[in-house]
Amino acid sequence: MIKITKPDLPELEEYINYLKKIWSTRWLTNNGEFVQLLERKLEEYLKVKNIILLSDGTSALHLALKAFNLKGEVITTPFTFATSTNAILWERLNPIFADIDPDTYNIDPDDVEKKITDKTSAILAVHVFGNPCNVEKLQKIADNYKLKLIYDAAHTFGVEYKKQSVLKYGDISTLSFHATKVFNTIEGGAAVVKDEKIFKKIRLLRNHGIKSEEAVMLPGINAKMNEFQAAMGLCNLKNIDEKIQRRKSIYDYYKRNLTHTRIKFQKIMATKYNYSYMPILLRSQLERDTVFLELIKNDIKPRKYFYPLTVNYNYFKDRDENLVEKYHLSRAIEISNRILCLPLYPDLERDKIEKITDIIRKVLI
Ligand SMILES: Cc1ncc(COP(=O)(O)O)c(C=O)c1O
Repeated sequence: MIKITKPDLPELEEYINYLKKIWSTRWLTNNGEFVQLLERKLEEYLKVKNIILLSDGTSALHLALKAFNLKGEVITTPFTFATSTNAILWERLNPIFADIDPDTYNIDPDDVEKKITDKTSAILAVHVFGNPCNVEKLQKIADNYKLKLIYDAAHTFGVEYKKQSVLKYGDISTLSFHATKVFNTIEGGAAVVKDEKIFKKIRLLRNHGIKSEEAVMLPGINAKMNEFQAAMGLCNLKNIDEKIQRRKSIYDYYKRNLTHTRIKFQKIMATKYNYSYMPILLRSQLERDTVFLELIKNDIKPRKYFYPLTVNYNYFKDRDENLVEKYHLSRAIEISNRILCLPLYPDLERDKIEKITDIIRKVLI
């Protein structure tokens, strides 16, 4: 089976060297040496300040929403992974869905503006498949209406926009280092925080709000990254540029092999991209589903990212059958029905890509 992705692992010996250190110190978690070192190395690599490592990307989103004491409504995209919407609901906020741009697949700032009410407290935008949102327009809207701007940057490791890290935009960007991501720490995540006070607050929140043995400042949670995760990150970070380069050559090869079909590709806004996903847009839902089934028949597992839209999740449907119509999400519906993500990972072999693209071309004739 050719899967959608294959997690990167370092040389076993290299990881074992870190494990030996953990065995000798018996320091397994609680802001250990490797977590601190990885924070410094990531700040350097990503060219950002104020990075906080966390247990996963989901906790990063929760803490971002929590840190601002948000109330009321958060405007977000329905074209995303479950976490972005779930986190809003878990923080007892009300997600309001805006439509997306049909070329970049990111939230449409004009629709965001239309959906602002006196209850809106924040925008939670997602850089979908690592493709930078319209950060300038979103910032302008956030400033004009005094809203917090949070980016779910789960897919965005190493991406730059206008020659600077895309993580510099907005009040907080959250990252995921899950096994399937461009850079992985097995499970893991991070928050990149602009405001120094909020940065300190999230550092407290990730460790139960504990400042010292006798001072608990906030009702926090356990969202700490452990030393085993950080060690994996330190190993994987060493080869990251080479891995992204290999992703690029696979991405380009796919594009070349599929150029003369009527497939559309995502319009990439990055000045430096990470080739995290290989989304293709078919002409109809029927065509997408036919390609999907034909690939499955041939032992290839693409994914319909992101289908269904989060607004179509069962828990929303149970509450209100007409929610999608209410939000006028025609472009998100269209893209979600026609999208398919193809396998992409650094050591995906050329013959496998050829097999995948041959099957697709045959279906599209
Ligand atoms: C857009 C998006 N946000 C958030 C997450 C959550 O990250 P994690 O799995 O690290 O909790 C993911 C994970 O795949 C994601 O794709």
